[in-house]
Amino acid sequence: MPGVLPVASVEKEKKTQKHVLIAAGVIAVCVLLFISIRLVIPAEATGKDVATKARSTASGLSRVEEFLAASNCSLNFFLAWTTAANKFVLRYRRTIESTLKFHPNGCLVVYSPTLELNHFQVFWDMGYNIIVERPDVPYLIAGTPAEKWYEGIEEWRKGQYFFSHITEIIRLATLFKYGGVYLDTDVIVMQDLHDLHNVVGTELAGARGESKVLNGAVLLFDRGSRFIYEAMVEFNTTYRIDSWGWNGPELVTRVAGRFPRGAELRILPTMAFYPIHWAKVAKYFRDEDPEDQHIVWSQMAKETYLFHYWNKITKKLVPQPGSLMYKVLNNYCLMCNDTSTDG
Ligand SMILES: *[C@@H]1O[C@H](CO)[C@@H](O)[C@H](O)[C@H]1NC(C)=O
Ligand SMILES: *[C@@H]1O[C@H](CO)[C@@H](O)[C@H](O)[C@H]1NC(C)=O
Ligand SMILES: *[C@@H]1O[C@H](CO)[C@@H](O)[C@H](O)[C@H]1NC(C)=O
Repeated sequence: MPGVLPVASVEKEKKTQKHVLIAAGVIAVCVLLFISIRLVIPAEATGKDVATKARSTASGLSRVEEFLAASNCSLNFFLAWTTAANKFVLRYRRTIESTLKFHPNGCLVVYSPTLELNHFQVFWDMGYNIIVERPDVPYLIAGTPAEKWYEGIEEWRKGQYFFSHITEIIRLATLFKYGGVYLDTDVIVMQDLHDLHNVVGTELAGARGESKVLNGAVLLFDRGSRFIYEAMVEFNTTYRIDSWGWNGPELVTRVAGRFPRGAELRILPTMAFYPIHWAKVAKYFRDEDPEDQHIVWSQMAKETYLFHYWNKITKKLVPQPGSLMYKVLNNYCLMCNDTSTDG
């Protein structure tokens, strides 16, 4: 561009000076435009740049709040991943895929101290609303009944179940603050969940189908839920550092035991979220007893909203082609071509 500058001549000095000034001005504007286009376009066009914005935004909202506000989400989903990023193998990606398959206009927030903020770029590029956020527990529980609990954090940190307990408080706090669905990462969504409000699932039923044990792996609650409020009071006042289940699944069962059923709390039967009990689940990772696998699969296809497959027990099992687990993992997917020994 500088090459097109007019060459000055003695006779036309004044006129030329004016031309030079105009030309220089035009060039400067061109250069500025060029630079700003180069800077601005990539920043707005890729999820990566959006996803790596600072936690606090100019609007005073957290990144998650800004994301939820901007995305017109039909339903909010919250997940937490506290183990190493390289452990997030295909079967956990299927949790994300199955959720988005049934809720393409939903918003997913994955709270994780380990995953890269652009870990789910491939979904963002497909047009889905998903972000990874660093869990900021003090921010999430500020103003909730569990706020006081955080004052003991240095002590709690020493417990061997600390990371499980952190996911317990994240699930309660996010649902209380934003409302929506909390999912553990070992679930496969099998149906649309939009119509479920203020719901927990039965893990174990008695002989007459009555709920005996509930589970908090899946919680669907409206913002400001009274049940979640009570659960946070319970977490705050009865927290135990030395027990894995006390502050989690057992807490949900305890609080529901004294909470009235109705619009603020519905309890679904085992088939809804926990169609196969953890004591029996290993069989369904193997290719055996096809008749039974088929019966269970057929019933699940009709009645199950989502399948919680008990990662604590099944983490090391590889689902065999022909097993129910293999079918579930590869039936509710977005990138179904992608199978591995893990899926
Ligand atoms: C938000 O989503 C709803 C459906 O979920 C739609 O009817 C509405 O038009 C959307 N609003 C905007 C501003 O996109
Ligand atoms: C939380 O627990 C502390 C004691 O550990 C108590 O002082 C406080 O009142 C509790 N908060 C709620 C909302 O129950
Ligand atoms: C899956 O694989 C088939 C066959 O290789 C191909 O035709 C199809 O486009 C693939 N689909 C996706 C979503 O990658």
